[in-house]
Amino acid sequence: MRIIVVNNYEEMSRKAADMMASQVILKPDSVLGLATGSTPLGMYKELVDRYEKEGLDFSKVTTFNLDEYYGITRENTQSYYYYMRNNLFKHINIDLQKTNIPNGSAESIEKECEEYEERIKKAGGIDIQVLGIGSNGHIGFNEPDINFEAETHLVNLDEETIKANSRFFNSKEDVPVKAISMGIKTIMQSKKIILLANGEGKAEAIYETVKGKINPNTPASILQLHNDVTIILDKNAASKIQ
Ligand code: GLP
Repeated sequence: MRIIVVNNYEEMSRKAADMMASQVILKPDSVLGLATGSTPLGMYKELVDRYEKEGLDFSKVTTFNLDEYYGITRENTQSYYYYMRNNLFKHINIDLQKTNIPNGSAESIEKECEEYEERIKKAGGIDIQVLGIGSNGHIGFNEPDINFEAETHLVNLDEETIKANSRFFNSKEDVPVKAISMGIKTIMQSKKIILLANGEGKAEAIYETVKGKINPNTPASILQLHNDVTIILDKNAASKIQ
């Protein structure tokens, strides 16, 4: 694991954008694995900036998002579909046909999950996967006690995750209790991984991920076994490992 500690959120976002931009410049038809949540917002802003000012070209890129809430339509402003459109896709020259997000309102979730895995394989696998981390150590929506062997599947959200994500909804009761998420196996098959974390609230999860034993209670700890992981942290998220 390569760990980079920076001063603040802006620096973390710039570093992450540097890595994503180099990937796209070196391989214009890259397959990018994308994440949602508040953490990568600054990185997306940076990438939009580089498209506008430097002409960073996304026209050949394919993307796969990590997860989507279950039982939510794409039009719902809390859907990750809506998030990706508004925070990245509509601001850059990406071909929307090449963007992939699990469909949380698919008729058959089982089929949706199988097809999602198929699509990733057909695209040649993910070149670089961006991850945030939950305060409970989740990546994607792979909650504690996860089966490390899982591929894309339907998950039950942890109480802690529902509470954490309720800040985006009108009330806690509005937060979906299930989601479709790439599994740990899917994530681990990515060629490169970047994990981003900022703020004190992530310090414990980062400590367990980096220094703890590999165990299903901290899903992100499995990343210790991946051979190309870069973790970019602000000082606060790194406070327990330094
Ligand atoms: C969410 C997402 C994760 C994200 C994490 C942290 O529930 N499913 O992909 O990394 O929780 O979110 P945030 O960046 O808002 O702290």
